[in-house]
Amino acid sequence: EEGHHLEQLSWSFAGPFGRYDQAQLQRGFKIYREVCSACHSMELVSFRNLADPGGPGFTEEQVKALAEEYTIKDGPNEEGEMFERPGKPSDKFPSPFPNAEAAKYANNGAHPPDFSLLAKARGPHRGFPWFLFDVFTQYQEGGPDYIHAILTGYEESPECGADFEGYYNTAFTVGGVPEGCKENGHSTIAGTYIAMAPPLFDELVEYEDGTATTVDQYAKDVAAFMMWAAEPKLEQRKRIGFMAMIYMIVLAGMLYFVKKKLWANID
Ligand code: HEM
Repeated sequence: EEGHHLEQLSWSFAGPFGRYDQAQLQRGFKIYREVCSACHSMELVSFRNLADPGGPGFTEEQVKALAEEYTIKDGPNEEGEMFERPGKPSDKFPSPFPNAEAAKYANNGAHPPDFSLLAKARGPHRGFPWFLFDVFTQYQEGGPDYIHAILTGYEESPECGADFEGYYNTAFTVGGVPEGCKENGHSTIAGTYIAMAPPLFDELVEYEDGTATTVDQYAKDVAAFMMWAAEPKLEQRKRIGFMAMIYMIVLAGMLYFVKKKLWANID
């Protein structure tokens, strides 16, 4: 098996000074809305989050208008009945399926995972002490790298898996492998089969800002959007972290001189 190496992309939000690219988050949201939300929920994100600082930067009026385009199930009312009403900015994004069973039923038994935390959940899991160094590495962007790789990793099924159920994806490593593609129990193909049909095609989603309408570009934009959904306070975290580092460096310097002075007469 050729091991698949994740392509490491250069994300605007990488590194200690990284920030989300607002226009990219808006394009990524458009893809989520027009394509992915047909199957994937995003239960922890409210419409109003789209106007939060450090996010896609929609205005409150835009968010209000957007929310109103959705139908939200609410209730019970005074008569004890459930009812439907237009969305409000404080509502969460409604899920495409009424429950997990229905989601599985509609997807040949595979539950499309919720998007809220997926970009963080699919990042590499590094324990102590390694995560302390990750501010200097690209490990923090492993999640969006992976999502981009999945979305661009579909290939024609190899001969050995021609009748296998699912779609051949060179970046997906936790799916099924047809018996015909194994030798002595070991897979002979890169990647595995995934239950998600390729969701993106060139020119599928219209962009108004002149950005290329290719699968590769869509994959980058929606992965960046999912990173924001999973880590909406990334910019604040990096800013405060940086100030804390400066504070500690200055404090350490001052403590050094205090120590020298206090111990000056001791030999
Ligand atoms: C799984 C992204 C559209 C159905 C996934 C995964 C990601 C993803 C990152 C997780 C892979 C993993 O578990 O490691 C996207 C994006 C979409 C999109 C960014 C839009 C551009 C769709 C659509 C459908 C769908 C439209 C349904 C028609 C599924 C299913 C799975 C899945 C069933 C589970 C696959 C499995 O475990 O084999 N998707 N998806 N997705 N998605 Fe999507």
